[in-house]
Amino acid sequence: MTQTCKPLLDVLAGNRRATPPIWLMRQAGRYLPEYRALRADAGSFLDLCYNPDFAVEATLQPIKRFDLDAAIIFSDILVIPQALGRELYFEEGRGPVLTPLTRSSEVAALDRNGMTDRLAPIYQAISKVRSILPAPVSLIGFAGAPWTIASYMIEGGTSRDHLALRRFTYEEPVVFDRLIEELSEAITEHLLAQIKAGAEVVQIFDTWAGILPPAGLDRYSLRPIGTIAQAVRSAAPDVPVIAFPRAVGSAYAAYAAIDAIAAVSIDTGADPRWAAETLQSMAAVQGNLDPAARIVGGTTMDRAATAICAALKDGPHILNLGHGVLPPTPPDHVARLIEVVRAGGS
Ligand code: CP3
Repeated sequence: MTQTCKPLLDVLAGNRRATPPIWLMRQAGRYLPEYRALRADAGSFLDLCYNPDFAVEATLQPIKRFDLDAAIIFSDILVIPQALGRELYFEEGRGPVLTPLTRSSEVAALDRNGMTDRLAPIYQAISKVRSILPAPVSLIGFAGAPWTIASYMIEGGTSRDHLALRRFTYEEPVVFDRLIEELSEAITEHLLAQIKAGAEVVQIFDTWAGILPPAGLDRYSLRPIGTIAQAVRSAAPDVPVIAFPRAVGSAYAAYAAIDAIAAVSIDTGADPRWAAETLQSMAAVQGNLDPAARIVGGTTMDRAATAICAALKDGPHILNLGHGVLPPTPPDHVARLIEVVRAGGS
């Protein structure tokens, strides 16, 4: 059945539309003046995430401003390690800071009991957003993938070379497997709780998948994501899963081939013509405008967006960025992007 009233769900069901549904990773955030004002009121980024009233407001800000097909709940992938007992804070200008995990006893101490209680404000925000959203707009829940969450836990923040993480996989393979397993369970639980609260789609962000060698990619990204997607499908067969294993090149095909994955989100470096040929028969393709082209705007952005839509027009396509919206993005360029894409249908 074609769900014309919810364009995103329609495409995730495998249908092609004359113009692709649109949403943008990090569509809420510092590029919006109303977000900066809300954040100043809240005090800190985590206060925004854990106060349902603020989180609802931040989620809805881009929806009020732009003609988007989806809202993504305002939260972060790092709420999971925090809810499992790891220390987390955000430092101005530096990003997330966690106490680096180094020992097997710290993996054993991760405590999933009570995790969803600690994350309850996120589920409250989801229920509230769902009750307010206009009918055609879908609500997306999300989580980080085990590999990417493990990266922040072991590195203690964003890393340039991820060397502590990569060494850990070779030096402590048994402990690392245990960590991936524990995170997979936690992520599944968090996604199902979001679905129960009202999320209609879930996306799994594997931002750092692209640094893995092939054997590691299979073991630490592809398989755990497949297991999580399958568990979501078994418990909530109507809720499609989008996977975003960033910068994995030809391996995108292996994710698209997983039955429980409805769409793969491709990064800026992937060729949309290749994605159309290779991926679209197996899954919907989401992407992949260069966030830098979006900042530049004008004909640069118009042409880039038009080329992506043209390449992916014969199959299920969701227009998005290749990675998140960057803070210097002029909000007007977002409005223009949506206009150009909506005008391009045939
Ligand atoms: O609008 C949305 O997309 C929903 C909210 C969302 C945020 N983070 C809010 C946020 C989502 C889906 C994320 C995912 C996320 N968080 C990822 C995966 C996607 C990606 O970007 O690769 C990762 C790796 C994180 C971890 C994280 N959170 C980092 C590295 C940072 C610092 C970078 C920065 O931009 O400051 C954050 C903070 C963060 N998460 C902000 C927002 C809006 C900025 C917070 C602020 O300063 O107000």
